[in-house]
Amino acid sequence: EASDADLHARILAAKQTLGDRVMVLGHFYQREEVIEHADYVGDSFQLAGAAKEHPEAEAIVFCGVHFMAETADLLSTPKQAVILPNLAAGCSMADMANIDQVEECWEDLEEVYGPMDQQDADGLVPVVPVTYMNSSAAIKGFVGRHGGIVCTSSNARTVLEWAFARGRRVLFFPDQHLGRNTAKAMGVPLEQMPMWNPNRALGGNDESTLEDARVILWHGFCSVHRRFTVAQIDKARSDFPGVRVIVHPECPMDVVDAADEAGSTDYIRKAIAAATEPTVFAVGTEINLVQRLAAEYPQHTIFCLDPVVCPCSTMYRIHPGYLAWVLEGLVSGNVINQITVPADVADPARVALERMLAAKP
Ligand code: 13P
Ligand code: SF4
Repeated sequence: EASDADLHARILAAKQTLGDRVMVLGHFYQREEVIEHADYVGDSFQLAGAAKEHPEAEAIVFCGVHFMAETADLLSTPKQAVILPNLAAGCSMADMANIDQVEECWEDLEEVYGPMDQQDADGLVPVVPVTYMNSSAAIKGFVGRHGGIVCTSSNARTVLEWAFARGRRVLFFPDQHLGRNTAKAMGVPLEQMPMWNPNRALGGNDESTLEDARVILWHGFCSVHRRFTVAQIDKARSDFPGVRVIVHPECPMDVVDAADEAGSTDYIRKAIAAATEPTVFAVGTEINLVQRLAAEYPQHTIFCLDPVVCPCSTMYRIHPGYLAWVLEGLVSGNVINQITVPADVADPARVALERMLAAKP
């Protein structure tokens, strides 16, 4: 097995040979040994933008998870190859909504609300589907075909406003927490946010609550962020009076409510970067990002709310060994682990993504 130093040297050498022909993108949750080789580091929204704005690179190596690489393929040019170093790097939340379940839900909702493309007297359709970026390209395609839109954790509110300008209600998937936290901050009462459990048929899902619904939430969640609790926040406040608690909006509602602030990975990074006085930060998000911030800002005390190290196990599957392998493949003319979204899905999925990129607050 290659040592860390070996892998580091091999990645450097391959990148040097490839020069501008390759662009390595790294999500904030990637481990340090991968991030140090990334040309761009960012949240899911920023990395989608980087994939769109660099047509000069022949290959984009995406150090993140599968849905992010699919998005990069959708937004890059047809000549660019997007590579996911380890094809097993998925996202358990994205897997919680599959296209068959979403189609079935849509048909069931049509029974309740009537034809989905019919506008009422106010010019609103019954339901606008909104999918979190953390979903398959097939789901983004569904959303694109049905007048819907994609959001990320950094623009969820703007996107929900876009959707409410076009529909009576929103069907939000797969993350119930981002949906609930965002809609609640916009003033939508909890009673108007019923949950759709895809494992139950209509009838198992309560039809009476659907009548008054504003946001129908999908029964999905992030296994990393659901570990954060109010008890952890209470402990941080008693251990460190004056602590600033910042969490990701994929955390459960009671955690977001108990925190001082909630925002995307980039929001968290910027909030810490902007603090002028030495501050104690308790952060509710993935450990690799928290540890990197702690190292980058030694003037502050920065720790993860969860005392048990909580990495995203699928992000962690991008081992530097895989990065070296795919880069060396490119050097010898082989594109390994390419992610290609089929055209029938790609066209409507791109529509849904472009709506997001164009949505203004
Ligand atoms: P960001 O959109 O904040 O980068 O989050 C992506 C993600 O997967 C969070 O779990
Ligand atoms: Fe998916 Fe959660 Fe990992 Fe983000 S942190 S990639 S939502 S499992």
